[in-house]
Amino acid sequence: MDAEILHRWHLRGLALGLGGRANDLREERLAQELCGIRFPNPVGLAAGYDKYAVAVPAFERLGFGFVELGSVTPLPQPGNPRPRMHRLGADKAMINHMGLNNPGYDVFIDRVRKAERSLTRMPVAVNLAKGKAQEDPAADYVNGVKTFEDIADLIVLNLSCPNVTGFKNLQDPDEAENILRSVRAARTEGAFETPVFVKIGPDLPAEKLERLTGLCIDHGMEGIVATNLTHARPDSLKTRPLPEKGGLSGPPMRDQATKTIANVYRFSGGKLIIAGIGGISSAGDAYAKIRAGASLIELYTGLVYHGMGLVSDIVNGLDALLERDGFRHVSEAVGIGIKPS
Ligand SMILES: Cc1cc2nc3c(=O)[nH]c(=O)nc-3n(C[C@H](O)[C@H](O)[C@H](O)COP(=O)(O)O)c2cc1C
Repeated sequence: MDAEILHRWHLRGLALGLGGRANDLREERLAQELCGIRFPNPVGLAAGYDKYAVAVPAFERLGFGFVELGSVTPLPQPGNPRPRMHRLGADKAMINHMGLNNPGYDVFIDRVRKAERSLTRMPVAVNLAKGKAQEDPAADYVNGVKTFEDIADLIVLNLSCPNVTGFKNLQDPDEAENILRSVRAARTEGAFETPVFVKIGPDLPAEKLERLTGLCIDHGMEGIVATNLTHARPDSLKTRPLPEKGGLSGPPMRDQATKTIANVYRFSGGKLIIAGIGGISSAGDAYAKIRAGASLIELYTGLVYHGMGLVSDIVNGLDALLERDGFRHVSEAVGIGIKPS
C-alpha cells in the first residue's frame, strides 16, 4: 500500500476523532512562555504531517504542545508525481520527495480559522514556502507573513525544502539575506507582532550556518526550526534498494540534526529560540535536542513508526529525565549539554 494513501487515511481517522487516547499534557516543569506564546508542553507536530490542515483539533486532543501546519504556498500545488513517500522499515526512517503539494492559502486559511475556534490551549504555527513558479522568493514570504499575521500564533519560513528545484539554495546566506530583509521590512511597516522562525536543513556547511544564524538575529527573527530533511544517505542504512530521489528523515539523521541545533545555539549565543527536530523517537532523543539548545521539539517520522502514544511517552519521559537531573524547569536544561561547565 502506498505510504501516502495510508497517511491520508490516518489523518481522516484523526479528523473523525478516531485513533489515540485523549491527553491533556501540562506538566508544570514543561510549560513555557516563549516569544509571548504559551506552550503547554514542548512537543510539537512537524510541518508536512498535516499539510492540508484537516485534523488540527485532533492534535490538541492527543496532547501536542503545538502544531506546525503546512508547508503552504499562495496557490495550490500538486507536488511531484507519485509514489513520492517511501518508508524504510528496516531503519524506521522515510525518504520523500513530495515537492510541496498543498491546497494553497484560500482553502488552508478557511480550515485553520474553523479549527482554531475549537482550540483551547494549543498554539498553531504556519509553515510558509515559496510557490514553485515564483521567481522572486522574497515576494511569497512577504505575502505569507502579511496573510498569516492574524491567523497564526507563529510563522515559520521554510527555506530548506530539498524536493523542489531551486529551493535548496534559499537557505544559502546570499539568497536568504534578501528574503529576511524583505520580511523584516514588511513586519516593521505593518507593526506585525507574530513571531517568525526560519526552518533550515542539516546539510549547510558550518560557516554558512554561522552566517545564516547571524542574519536571522540581525533581521529580527525570533527562532530557528532545525532541521528539515537531509540529502545524505548514511552508510548505516539497512533498507535496499534505496529510493534515489528525496530527503531522508528519522533516526538515521538524528545526530546530524542534533549537531546542527548545537551549532545554531552556539553561533547565536542562545539568542534564537530553537525548535529541534529530526529523528526523535523517544524521550531520550528529545532530551538530547533540548540539551543541545532546543526549547521546543517536533515529531514526524517517529509518529509513523510508534503511533500517537509517542507524544505522552515523550512528555512524561522528559518530565522524569528533568527530575532525575535536578532541573525544576525545562528551560534550565536548554543548551546545558554544550555550555562550558
Ligand atoms: C512526508 C514528509 C513531508 C514533509 N513535508 C514538509 C513540509 O511540507 N515542510 C517542511 O518544512 N518540512 C516537511 N517535512 C520535514 C519534517 O517537518 C521534518 O523536518 C523532518 O521529517 C525531520 O523530522 P523527523 O525525523 O521527526 O521526521 C516533511 C517530512 C516528511 C517525512
